[in-house]
Amino acid sequence: MTSAPAPGATPTVARTREELKAALNGTVSLVPTMGALHEGHARLLEHARPLGATLVASIFVNPTQFAPGEDFDAYPRTFEADLEVCAEAGVDVVFAPTGPTMYPSGLRDTVTVDPGPLGAILEGEMRPTHFRGVLTVVSKLFGLVRPDVAMFGEKDYQQLALVRQMSRELALGVEIVGCPTVREADGLAMSSRNRFLSDSERQTAACLSAALRAGVDAAGDGAAAVLASARTVLDDASIVPDYLVLTDPELGEAVPGEEARLLVAARVGTTRLLDNTALTPGGP
Ligand code: PAF
Repeated sequence: MTSAPAPGATPTVARTREELKAALNGTVSLVPTMGALHEGHARLLEHARPLGATLVASIFVNPTQFAPGEDFDAYPRTFEADLEVCAEAGVDVVFAPTGPTMYPSGLRDTVTVDPGPLGAILEGEMRPTHFRGVLTVVSKLFGLVRPDVAMFGEKDYQQLALVRQMSRELALGVEIVGCPTVREADGLAMSSRNRFLSDSERQTAACLSAALRAGVDAAGDGAAAVLASARTVLDDASIVPDYLVLTDPELGEAVPGEEARLLVAARVGTTRLLDNTALTPGGP
């Protein structure tokens, strides 16, 4: 067992399986990221800190979860600043793997993780190859880091649900923990992509979380009222969502009177934003 490093102590940086192995001790908690760390990630790391003796943050911008024409090249890469966030959060090991460590066959993997039906709806409908890339890279990270616990943000709710399903159904033995979404003062969910928003887009973007709040406020009047109230806020901001849906917590059909999830995705300018919230709509 290692004791948690003093906040601010520089984490060990590991780039290969061998370097990683030498740096790991005792129970391991993992926070997988693509870098460009913000306060939302800092909160994930803080929540994960007490869950294992060694806290690992992985930083890898995974090419296979971006389709051609998406923002892989533009995705922010801020490694030095990320190291500072990790140091401040008490991370022991930053795993920033080389390309060949993650993709020994050079992006020509023939064995990949099929996300199944849950990966084909919502985000999967908009980005048909996305979740195959996400689950494949997460399973590789689990194989390399061998964590006991891994923490994911609820902002990417479908991703969290799919990783949970993968860990359970493929018996990977990793406990998956979700961390509540961290928001800016005006409600905008924190995201590495928010930095792409212009000032006026930034104002419009806040309407996504406002729409979710309107849905929560209307919950007592039932599912139709939830969707109508959220839709009105989006309409008023001229946001045409890719989807606005009410589901059960596993992304199946919502059941009146039981906990549900309201999810929205929309493009603001050229930036695609996601958000979601829990609520319990009243009866029909
Ligand atoms: O949520 C993310 O940042 C990524 O999808 C993840 C889980 C690190 C896989 O690349």
